[in-house]
Amino acid sequence: MPGNDVSIHGEWSSRWAFVLAATGSAVGLGNIWKFPYITGENGGGAFVLVYLISIGLIGIPIMMAEVMLGRRGRLSPINTMRKLAKAGGHSRHWQWLGWAGVLTGFLILSYYSVIAGWALSYTVRAATGEFTGADAGTIKNIFTDFISSPLALLGWHTLFIVMTMVIVSRGVRGGLEKAVKLLMPALFILLVLLVGFAINTGAFSRGVEFLFYPDFARIGWNGILIAMGHAFFTLSLGMGSIMVYGSYLPKNISIAKTTFLIAGADTLVALMAGMVIFPIVFANDLQAGSGPGLIFQTLPIAFGHMWGGLFFGTLFFILLVFAAWTSAISLIEPAVAWLVENHNMTRRKASVVAGFVTWFVGIGTVLSFNLADNIRLFGKTFFDLLDYLTANILLPLGGLIMAIFATWVLSTKSSVSELELGEGLKYSLWFYLVKFVAPIAVLVVFLNVINVINL
Ligand code: TRP
Repeated sequence: MPGNDVSIHGEWSSRWAFVLAATGSAVGLGNIWKFPYITGENGGGAFVLVYLISIGLIGIPIMMAEVMLGRRGRLSPINTMRKLAKAGGHSRHWQWLGWAGVLTGFLILSYYSVIAGWALSYTVRAATGEFTGADAGTIKNIFTDFISSPLALLGWHTLFIVMTMVIVSRGVRGGLEKAVKLLMPALFILLVLLVGFAINTGAFSRGVEFLFYPDFARIGWNGILIAMGHAFFTLSLGMGSIMVYGSYLPKNISIAKTTFLIAGADTLVALMAGMVIFPIVFANDLQAGSGPGLIFQTLPIAFGHMWGGLFFGTLFFILLVFAAWTSAISLIEPAVAWLVENHNMTRRKASVVAGFVTWFVGIGTVLSFNLADNIRLFGKTFFDLLDYLTANILLPLGGLIMAIFATWVLSTKSSVSELELGEGLKYSLWFYLVKFVAPIAVLVVFLNVINVINL
């Protein structure tokens, strides 16, 4: 009977361990690197509003569904889906959801690692005083020179993959719990400090206005898709990261409460990152829409001019690397757990295999910033294409199918007993959001982007 046994991979030692690990997965480059740059590219306030609505109406309910499926299945997402479908007498094809998730995880990690490599390199640059006193122009040149060197990017990408695989091969529980407990609060405090710096740039109110004043003329359906896709990306939803972490969750823990905590912390970090970046952008006459390099072209200006900038700059990039690290682990865990379950591999061997594949695909992203930046498909570089495909198509689709499975296929008896929300209003709210609102919202956005309907 699903739900009664214990995961063969071990379990979290407490509710906090799960909250920390899942927060570690959620808070990452998505919050600090991606959220500001896509907000900048998509006009600010209206985009942020769509993102926040997506978190509340789609992200949180689906996150509860994903944790629930994991805890009921207790195996890697592929085997969890197979087991749950079988137990309810449904088609074994549901396991394809797990497969799609594994593929999506590889694809995301392949470029995620390249960007995490940028953060590694910037840690060294900050520590060696490269930013001290530098103006916006110099900072921009440092960035452009850096990304035009394929070897430099490849080296840092390789280092980050190795770092990730070392942790994954030891199992996600031990080291991770301790690291996240210390580093997440540190990252948070540092962001508060940086908001303090941003307040003194003289452009704080402009930055905040950009972030929170919605001007709907600036956003179209594609922007709405990007905002919605980012809600999945930032909460680690739709590919099995949260499902596999849910499978290590002991039985007596409230899924709803933990989900709210995780989503709340994640959103707060993203909004704070925005409140740091945009004032610096406007105070230095930079372009809000300058793309993936945005934080690397703005934050060093702050570190170059603030008191203790060498120390705080170094610390910031170290913490950013850690945030990326704890996310990267969760991207590859579904694949590694499956290799261990079905191929009788040791975790170590499984990590090497998974790491090598990811590293190899990552070379495409490395080159898309330099040698191959003129190779375009649909007007996008390899990196842009991979990002668009995963964040805006595969994750919402994965989430949609999870939502359908959790509410249309799985018996309500199962979800009632797993979620422990009672059978009243709270449960109904979750149920109807996941059964109707989230799937319809995802479909409406998809259909509008491909112009099949016009809403
Ligand atoms: N949420 C992480 C971030 O914002 C990235 C991440 C980890 C992720 N696991 C995921 C994104 C699973 C999508 C799916 O940086």
